[in-house]
Amino acid sequence: MDGITSSNDPSSDSMTSRDYYADSYAHFGIHEEMLKDSVRTGSYRAAILDNGHLFKGKTVLDVGCGTGILSMFAAKAGAAHVVGIDMSNIIDQAQRIIEINGFKDTITLVKGKLEEAELPIIQFDIIISEWMGYFLLYESMLDTVLLARDKYLKPGGCMFPDNARMYLAAIEDQDYKEEKINFWDNVYGFDYSCIKDIALREPLVDTVELKAVVTDPYMLKHINLLTAKKEDLAFTAPFTLTATRNDYIHAFLAWFDITFDCTHKKIQFSTGPHAQYTHWKQTVFYTPSTITISEGEKITGTLSCVPNARNNRDLDIGVEYTAGEKPTKVDYRMS
Ligand SMILES: C[S@@+](CC[C@H](N)C(=O)[O-])C[C@H]1O[C@@H](n2cnc3c(N)ncnc32)[C@H](O)[C@@H]1O
Repeated sequence: MDGITSSNDPSSDSMTSRDYYADSYAHFGIHEEMLKDSVRTGSYRAAILDNGHLFKGKTVLDVGCGTGILSMFAAKAGAAHVVGIDMSNIIDQAQRIIEINGFKDTITLVKGKLEEAELPIIQFDIIISEWMGYFLLYESMLDTVLLARDKYLKPGGCMFPDNARMYLAAIEDQDYKEEKINFWDNVYGFDYSCIKDIALREPLVDTVELKAVVTDPYMLKHINLLTAKKEDLAFTAPFTLTATRNDYIHAFLAWFDITFDCTHKKIQFSTGPHAQYTHWKQTVFYTPSTITISEGEKITGTLSCVPNARNNRDLDIGVEYTAGEKPTKVDYRMS
């Protein structure tokens, strides 16, 4: 088996900015950012190469193979055959890359949407995929990975990774909230506060220093990739945050951890404020008003997360919380 098995491009060598807008993964820049994220790519490499016994002689499906990096790790780990699939024109470069690196006979690339494609192998021992988005689920292709599992994974096969966990905490963030949210109260002497409400409802993806975290973290949601269903990706989760000091709270903070639990040498990474930088950073949800909290005091509430009805890659996120007496509800939209 060799070459890309299906192709109906505007050739990736002649793409215009409009083509890149429609196919955001076609440009090398986004892959450069992902490949240079050494926590991300290094964790996948360790999970695959340090567990060669799981890959030796096995068939592997790489869902959303991009430039082919995970497919090449799997081939290097001894897989009998790897099929990489991607719907973006970047796969034309992936084909060149696997050929230059001597993997032409071990890796077959398929251009197209996983949901619509015909694969040259119909049952795989292992599915690998890097599917995570901001806040884990924003623009995520997890539903595609679950579909791949149900259609192509052999009974008893492995998912790489196989567990994801989302966490919530609360932070003191007076200065940045002033700059990002309260800025709209007075713009060169004019009242722009109508934008303040819109800005508040848009979660902010940014890095947050650990010293800003005012509560213990709380695990909001666990997704087991071997058993999760598409319906599980719309959820409402209760939370309790316990303050670790007397302080003010200006926002909730969310992040996720990823684990490869099927491996002999367990590999995991975190995108939290306590961990090394990743391109996912953390996600900040500003609260409408400042919460005053004392050490040991609790904030209770629920976080709901539902794919947007008009665009299922966007997320409608509702946070309802009680700190003291008054319950507050805020509807956020990640788009
Ligand atoms: C986050 S990137 C990961 C790329 C590569 N695996 C890596 O680790 O560098 C996800 C890739 O999945 C592809 N993708 C997303 N949804 C897809 C689908 N439904 N079918 C095929 N490919 C898809 C995108 O085009 C993108 O290249």
